[in-house]
Amino acid sequence: MSGEAGRTRSRVLVVGATGRLGGSLARASLAAGHPTFALVRPHHLARPDSPHLEPLVAAGATLLEGSLEDYPSLLEAVRQVDVVICAVPTKQALEQKSLIRAIKEAGCVRRFIPAEFGLDPTKVQIGEMDYGFYEKKIEVRRLIESECIPHTYICCNFFMRYLLPSLVQPGLDSPPKDGIKIFGEGNTKGVFVKESDVAKFTICTIEDPRTLNKTLYLRPPGNVCSMNELVDLWETKINKSLKRTYVTEEQLLTEIHDAPFPLKMDLIFIYSAFVKGDHTYFEIDSSTEGTQLYPHVNYTTVNEYLDSLVQNI
Ligand SMILES: NC(=O)c1ccc[n+]([C@@H]2O[C@H](COP(=O)([O-])OP(=O)(O)OC[C@H]3O[C@@H](n4cnc5c(N)ncnc54)[C@H](OP(=O)(O)O)[C@@H]3O)[C@@H](O)[C@H]2O)c1
Repeated sequence: MSGEAGRTRSRVLVVGATGRLGGSLARASLAAGHPTFALVRPHHLARPDSPHLEPLVAAGATLLEGSLEDYPSLLEAVRQVDVVICAVPTKQALEQKSLIRAIKEAGCVRRFIPAEFGLDPTKVQIGEMDYGFYEKKIEVRRLIESECIPHTYICCNFFMRYLLPSLVQPGLDSPPKDGIKIFGEGNTKGVFVKESDVAKFTICTIEDPRTLNKTLYLRPPGNVCSMNELVDLWETKINKSLKRTYVTEEQLLTEIHDAPFPLKMDLIFIYSAFVKGDHTYFEIDSSTEGTQLYPHVNYTTVNEYLDSLVQNI
Protein backbone atom coordinates (compact mmCIF):
# COMPACT_ATOMS: atom_id res chain seq x y z
CA MET A 1 0.00 0.00 0.00
CA SER A 2 1.15 3.54 -0.58
CA GLY A 3 0.04 7.13 0.02
CA GLU A 4 -3.06 8.02 2.10
CA ALA A 5 -4.38 4.49 2.04
CA GLY A 6 -1.20 3.05 3.47
CA ARG A 7 -0.70 5.59 6.20
CA THR A 8 -1.51 4.41 9.66
CA ARG A 9 -3.40 7.04 11.57
CA SER A 10 -2.54 7.52 15.23
CA ARG A 11 -4.86 5.75 17.61
CA VAL A 12 -6.36 8.25 20.00
CA LEU A 13 -7.69 7.82 23.53
CA VAL A 14 -9.97 10.55 24.88
CA VAL A 15 -10.40 10.67 28.64
CA GLY A 16 -13.56 12.64 29.46
CA ALA A 17 -15.26 11.83 26.16
CA THR A 18 -18.70 11.91 27.79
CA GLY A 19 -18.11 15.59 28.62
CA ARG A 20 -18.73 18.62 26.46
CA LEU A 21 -15.21 19.26 25.18
CA GLY A 22 -14.27 15.57 25.33
CA GLY A 23 -17.23 14.63 23.11
CA SER A 24 -16.12 17.22 20.53
CA LEU A 25 -12.56 15.92 20.72
CA ALA A 26 -13.65 12.33 20.12
CA ARG A 27 -15.82 13.36 17.15
CA ALA A 28 -13.05 15.55 15.67
CA SER A 29 -10.58 12.69 16.05
CA LEU A 30 -12.93 10.26 14.29
CA ALA A 31 -13.69 12.81 11.57
CA ALA A 32 -9.95 13.10 10.93
CA GLY A 33 -9.78 9.32 10.46
CA HIS A 34 -8.16 8.31 13.74
CA PRO A 35 -9.25 5.09 15.39
CA THR A 36 -10.64 6.64 18.56
CA PHE A 37 -11.18 5.19 22.01
CA ALA A 38 -13.27 6.78 24.73
CA LEU A 39 -12.53 6.03 28.38
CA VAL A 40 -15.97 5.87 29.93
CA ARG A 41 -16.78 5.60 33.62
CA PRO A 42 -18.77 2.54 34.74
CA HIS A 43 -21.88 4.54 35.66
CA HIS A 44 -22.45 5.35 31.96
CA LEU A 45 -21.94 1.76 30.84
CA ALA A 46 -24.45 0.62 33.44
CA ARG A 47 -27.02 2.58 31.36
CA PRO A 48 -26.83 1.44 27.72
CA ASP A 49 -29.32 4.21 26.80
CA SER A 50 -27.02 6.88 28.27
CA PRO A 51 -27.40 9.98 26.07
CA HIS A 52 -23.66 10.57 26.47
CA LEU A 53 -22.71 7.26 24.86
CA GLU A 54 -24.99 7.14 21.84
CA PRO A 55 -23.28 9.98 19.90
CA LEU A 56 -19.85 8.49 20.60
CA VAL A 57 -20.88 5.04 19.42
CA ALA A 58 -22.70 6.47 16.38
CA ALA A 59 -19.55 8.39 15.41
CA GLY A 60 -17.52 5.16 15.61
CA ALA A 61 -15.69 5.43 18.93
CA THR A 62 -14.64 2.31 20.80
CA LEU A 63 -15.75 2.51 24.42
CA LEU A 64 -13.36 1.38 27.11
CA GLU A 65 -14.48 1.15 30.71
CA GLY A 66 -12.30 2.99 33.18
CA SER A 67 -11.63 6.05 35.27
CA LEU A 68 -8.74 8.10 36.63
CA GLU A 69 -9.14 6.33 39.98
CA ASP A 70 -8.74 2.87 38.40
CA TYR A 71 -5.06 2.58 37.47
CA PRO A 72 -5.25 -0.85 35.77
CA SER A 73 -8.03 0.47 33.50
CA LEU A 74 -5.85 3.44 32.56
CA LEU A 75 -2.83 1.31 31.80
CA GLU A 76 -4.88 -1.09 29.67
CA ALA A 77 -6.44 1.78 27.72
CA VAL A 78 -3.20 3.72 27.24
CA ARG A 79 -1.42 0.60 25.95
CA GLN A 80 -3.80 0.50 22.97
CA VAL A 81 -3.04 3.99 21.64
CA ASP A 82 -0.43 6.44 20.37
CA VAL A 83 -2.10 9.64 21.56
CA VAL A 84 -3.89 10.47 24.82
CA ILE A 85 -6.09 13.55 25.20
CA CYS A 86 -7.57 14.36 28.57
CA ALA A 87 -10.61 16.61 29.02
CA VAL A 88 -11.53 16.31 32.68
CA PRO A 89 -12.56 19.47 34.54
CA THR A 90 -9.87 21.63 36.18
CA LYS A 91 -10.98 20.67 39.66
CA GLN A 92 -9.74 17.18 38.78
CA ALA A 93 -6.54 18.30 37.06
CA LEU A 94 -4.27 16.67 39.63
CA GLU A 95 -6.01 13.32 39.16
CA GLN A 96 -4.22 13.24 35.81
CA LYS A 97 -1.10 12.20 37.72
CA SER A 98 -2.21 8.57 37.57
CA LEU A 99 -2.79 8.93 33.81
CA ILE A 100 0.74 10.32 33.43
CA ARG A 101 2.05 7.37 35.41
CA ALA A 102 0.22 4.99 33.07
CA ILE A 103 1.57 6.80 30.00
CA LYS A 104 5.08 6.52 31.38
CA GLU A 105 4.67 2.82 32.20
CA ALA A 106 3.05 1.96 28.86
CA GLY A 107 5.84 3.72 26.93
CA CYS A 108 3.90 3.77 23.64
CA VAL A 109 2.34 7.25 23.72
CA ARG A 110 3.79 9.71 21.21
CA ARG A 111 1.67 12.68 22.30
CA PHE A 112 -0.21 13.59 25.47
CA ILE A 113 -2.56 16.55 25.57
CA PRO A 114 -3.49 17.27 29.19
CA ALA A 115 -6.71 18.91 30.33
CA GLU A 116 -5.84 22.60 29.97
CA PHE A 117 -7.92 24.22 27.22
CA GLY A 118 -7.93 27.70 28.72
CA LEU A 119 -5.42 30.47 29.32
CA ASP A 120 -1.71 29.81 29.47
CA PRO A 121 -1.39 29.14 33.22
CA THR A 122 2.18 30.43 33.22
CA LYS A 123 1.11 33.84 31.88
CA VAL A 124 -1.83 34.67 34.14
CA GLN A 125 -1.27 37.90 36.11
CA ILE A 126 -3.81 37.62 38.90
CA GLY A 127 -1.49 36.36 41.62
CA GLU A 128 -3.18 34.23 44.27
CA MET A 129 -6.72 35.31 43.37
CA ASP A 130 -7.66 32.12 41.50
CA TYR A 131 -7.89 29.65 44.43
CA GLY A 132 -5.17 27.44 42.91
CA PHE A 133 -6.97 27.04 39.56
CA TYR A 134 -3.87 27.64 37.44
CA GLU A 135 -1.32 26.22 39.92
CA LYS A 136 -2.81 22.73 39.42
CA LYS A 137 -2.28 22.98 35.66
CA ILE A 138 1.30 24.15 36.20
CA GLU A 139 1.94 21.22 38.56
CA VAL A 140 0.68 18.80 35.89
CA ARG A 141 2.94 20.46 33.31
CA ARG A 142 5.95 20.05 35.62
CA LEU A 143 5.23 16.34 36.03
CA ILE A 144 4.77 15.80 32.28
CA GLU A 145 8.06 17.53 31.58
CA SER A 146 10.01 15.82 34.36
CA GLU A 147 8.76 12.43 33.11
CA CYS A 148 9.77 13.40 29.53
CA ILE A 149 6.29 12.67 28.16
CA PRO A 150 5.87 14.02 24.61
CA HIS A 151 3.12 16.62 24.86
CA THR A 152 1.27 19.62 23.48
CA TYR A 153 -0.52 22.19 25.64
CA ILE A 154 -3.63 23.78 24.14
CA CYS A 155 -4.25 27.38 25.20
CA CYS A 156 -7.52 28.34 23.55
CA ASN A 157 -8.61 31.06 26.03
CA PHE A 158 -12.42 31.27 26.51
CA PHE A 159 -14.83 28.78 25.01
CA MET A 160 -17.65 30.64 23.27
CA ARG A 161 -20.20 28.86 25.43
CA TYR A 162 -18.58 30.48 28.46
CA LEU A 163 -19.58 34.16 28.92
CA LEU A 164 -20.22 34.98 25.25
CA PRO A 165 -23.95 34.00 25.32
CA SER A 166 -24.50 36.87 27.78
CA LEU A 167 -21.98 39.26 26.20
CA VAL A 168 -19.83 38.80 29.30
CA GLN A 169 -22.54 39.54 31.86
CA PRO A 170 -21.97 37.11 34.74
CA GLY A 171 -25.16 35.58 36.06
CA LEU A 172 -27.03 35.98 32.73
CA ASP A 173 -27.35 33.32 30.04
CA SER A 174 -28.49 35.61 27.22
CA PRO A 175 -27.58 39.16 26.17
CA PRO A 176 -28.99 41.95 28.34
CA LYS A 177 -31.87 43.92 26.80
CA ASP A 178 -31.12 47.52 27.83
CA GLY A 179 -28.02 48.13 29.92
CA ILE A 180 -24.66 46.38 29.81
CA LYS A 181 -21.70 46.32 32.18
CA ILE A 182 -18.28 46.83 30.70
CA PHE A 183 -15.41 45.72 32.87
CA GLY A 184 -12.42 48.07 32.99
CA GLU A 185 -12.13 50.59 30.19
CA GLY A 186 -13.46 48.08 27.69
CA ASN A 187 -10.48 48.13 25.33
CA THR A 188 -8.53 45.11 26.55
CA LYS A 189 -8.94 42.18 24.19
CA GLY A 190 -10.04 38.67 25.07
CA VAL A 191 -10.32 35.57 22.87
CA PHE A 192 -13.33 33.31 22.30
CA VAL A 193 -13.23 30.00 20.41
CA LYS A 194 -16.06 27.55 19.84
CA GLU A 195 -15.43 24.25 21.58
CA SER A 196 -15.85 22.17 18.43
CA ASP A 197 -13.19 24.39 16.79
CA VAL A 198 -10.87 23.94 19.77
CA ALA A 199 -11.30 20.21 19.18
CA LYS A 200 -10.48 20.48 15.46
CA PHE A 201 -7.31 22.49 16.11
CA THR A 202 -6.31 20.08 18.88
CA ILE A 203 -6.58 17.08 16.58
CA CYS A 204 -4.44 18.87 13.98
CA THR A 205 -1.56 18.98 16.48
CA ILE A 206 -1.38 15.33 17.44
CA GLU A 207 0.83 14.14 14.57
CA ASP A 208 2.44 17.49 13.87
CA PRO A 209 6.16 17.65 14.74
CA ARG A 210 5.90 21.47 14.89
CA THR A 211 3.76 21.22 18.03
CA LEU A 212 5.77 18.53 19.82
CA ASN A 213 6.56 19.68 23.37
CA LYS A 214 5.10 23.10 22.57
CA THR A 215 2.06 25.19 23.44
CA LEU A 216 -0.57 25.78 20.77
CA TYR A 217 -2.26 29.17 21.20
CA LEU A 218 -5.57 30.04 19.59
CA ARG A 219 -6.08 33.68 18.63
CA PRO A 220 -8.21 33.35 15.51
CA PRO A 221 -8.72 36.54 13.51
CA GLY A 222 -12.28 37.70 14.19
CA ASN A 223 -12.30 36.10 17.62
CA VAL A 224 -9.99 38.48 19.47
CA CYS A 225 -12.08 41.38 20.72
CA SER A 226 -12.54 43.89 23.50
CA MET A 227 -15.78 44.39 25.40
CA ASN A 228 -16.34 47.71 23.61
CA GLU A 229 -15.94 45.99 20.23
CA LEU A 230 -18.26 43.18 21.31
CA VAL A 231 -20.99 45.60 22.32
CA ASP A 232 -20.50 47.71 19.15
CA LEU A 233 -20.96 44.56 17.07
CA TRP A 234 -24.03 43.50 19.01
CA GLU A 235 -25.64 46.95 18.78
CA THR A 236 -25.22 46.89 15.00
CA LYS A 237 -26.95 43.53 14.87
CA ILE A 238 -29.93 44.47 17.03
CA ASN A 239 -30.05 48.02 15.72
CA LYS A 240 -30.25 49.42 19.22
CA SER A 241 -27.84 51.08 21.67
CA LEU A 242 -27.36 49.66 25.14
CA LYS A 243 -26.65 51.86 28.12
CA ARG A 244 -23.01 51.09 28.99
CA THR A 245 -21.96 51.15 32.62
CA TYR A 246 -18.23 51.02 33.11
CA VAL A 247 -17.06 49.00 36.13
CA THR A 248 -13.65 50.23 37.25
CA GLU A 249 -10.90 47.83 38.28
CA GLU A 250 -11.40 48.85 41.91
CA GLN A 251 -15.17 48.28 41.74
CA LEU A 252 -14.63 44.91 40.09
CA LEU A 253 -12.19 43.85 42.80
CA THR A 254 -14.82 44.75 45.41
CA GLU A 255 -17.47 42.77 43.48
CA ILE A 256 -15.11 39.80 43.39
CA HIS A 257 -14.49 40.07 47.11
CA ASP A 258 -18.21 40.12 47.94
CA ALA A 259 -19.47 37.59 45.36
CA PRO A 260 -20.43 34.01 46.28
CA PHE A 261 -19.12 31.03 44.30
CA PRO A 262 -19.37 30.29 41.39
CA LEU A 263 -20.05 33.93 40.44
CA LYS A 264 -16.76 34.87 42.13
CA MET A 265 -14.80 32.69 39.68
CA ASP A 266 -16.62 34.19 36.67
CA LEU A 267 -15.69 37.67 37.87
CA ILE A 268 -12.09 36.59 38.45
CA PHE A 269 -11.85 35.20 34.90
CA ILE A 270 -13.36 38.43 33.55
CA TYR A 271 -10.87 40.46 35.58
CA SER A 272 -8.03 38.35 34.24
CA ALA A 273 -9.15 38.62 30.60
CA PHE A 274 -10.66 42.08 30.23
CA VAL A 275 -8.76 44.11 32.84
CA LYS A 276 -5.37 42.42 33.13
CA GLY A 277 -5.33 41.32 29.47
CA ASP A 278 -4.19 37.78 30.23
CA HIS A 279 -5.40 36.38 26.88
CA THR A 280 -3.43 38.79 24.75
CA TYR A 281 -0.88 40.91 26.65
CA PHE A 282 2.04 38.76 25.52
CA GLU A 283 3.37 38.27 22.03
CA ILE A 284 3.23 34.82 20.50
CA ASP A 285 5.24 33.47 17.63
CA SER A 286 3.09 32.82 14.56
CA SER A 287 4.52 29.28 14.51
CA THR A 288 2.57 28.56 17.71
CA GLU A 289 -0.85 29.96 16.70
CA GLY A 290 -3.52 27.54 15.52
CA THR A 291 -4.97 29.46 12.58
CA GLN A 292 -1.46 30.21 11.27
CA LEU A 293 -0.40 26.59 11.54
CA TYR A 294 -3.66 25.15 10.21
CA PRO A 295 -5.17 27.71 7.83
CA HIS A 296 -7.45 25.03 6.32
CA VAL A 297 -9.50 24.74 9.52
CA ASN A 298 -12.83 26.55 9.29
CA TYR A 299 -13.94 28.11 12.53
CA THR A 300 -16.86 30.11 13.88
CA THR A 301 -16.09 33.81 14.33
CA VAL A 302 -17.50 35.95 17.13
CA ASN A 303 -19.57 37.78 14.50
CA GLU A 304 -21.16 34.49 13.38
CA TYR A 305 -21.72 33.41 16.96
CA LEU A 306 -23.53 36.67 17.73
CA ASP A 307 -25.72 36.09 14.65
CA SER A 308 -26.87 32.85 16.28
CA LEU A 309 -27.73 34.79 19.46
CA VAL A 310 -29.78 37.33 17.49
CA GLN A 311 -31.93 34.49 16.18
CA ASN A 312 -32.82 33.56 19.77
CA ILE A 313 -33.88 36.96 21.06
N1 LIG B 1 -11.69 27.85 28.27
C1 LIG B 1 -12.89 27.76 28.76
O1 LIG B 1 -13.69 28.70 28.65
C2 LIG B 1 -13.31 26.49 29.40
C3 LIG B 1 -14.60 26.35 29.94
C4 LIG B 1 -14.97 25.12 30.50
C5 LIG B 1 -14.04 24.06 30.51
N2 LIG B 1 -12.80 24.25 30.01
C6 LIG B 1 -11.81 23.14 29.98
O2 LIG B 1 -12.30 22.09 29.16
C7 LIG B 1 -11.94 20.82 29.69
C8 LIG B 1 -13.18 19.95 29.82
O3 LIG B 1 -14.21 20.66 30.41
P1 LIG B 1 -15.75 20.31 30.12
O4 LIG B 1 -16.54 21.50 30.58
O5 LIG B 1 -15.92 19.78 28.74
O6 LIG B 1 -15.98 19.13 31.17
P2 LIG B 1 -17.31 18.28 31.44
O7 LIG B 1 -18.36 18.55 30.40
O8 LIG B 1 -17.65 18.51 32.88
O9 LIG B 1 -16.81 16.79 31.24
C9 LIG B 1 -15.87 16.22 32.08
C10 LIG B 1 -15.53 14.84 31.61
O10 LIG B 1 -14.54 14.29 32.49
C11 LIG B 1 -14.98 13.01 32.91
N3 LIG B 1 -14.42 12.69 34.22
C12 LIG B 1 -14.58 13.39 35.37
N4 LIG B 1 -13.94 12.76 36.37
C13 LIG B 1 -13.36 11.67 35.84
C14 LIG B 1 -12.57 10.62 36.37
N5 LIG B 1 -12.24 10.60 37.65
N6 LIG B 1 -12.17 9.63 35.54
C15 LIG B 1 -12.48 9.65 34.23
N7 LIG B 1 -13.24 10.63 33.67
C16 LIG B 1 -13.66 11.61 34.46
C17 LIG B 1 -16.50 13.13 32.96
O11 LIG B 1 -17.07 11.84 33.00
P3 LIG B 1 -18.59 11.58 33.50
O12 LIG B 1 -19.46 11.83 32.30
O13 LIG B 1 -18.55 10.16 33.92
O14 LIG B 1 -18.85 12.55 34.62
C18 LIG B 1 -16.72 13.86 31.65
O15 LIG B 1 -16.62 12.97 30.57
C19 LIG B 1 -11.19 21.09 30.97
O16 LIG B 1 -9.81 21.03 30.67
C20 LIG B 1 -11.58 22.51 31.34
O17 LIG B 1 -10.57 23.22 32.02
C21 LIG B 1 -12.43 25.42 29.44
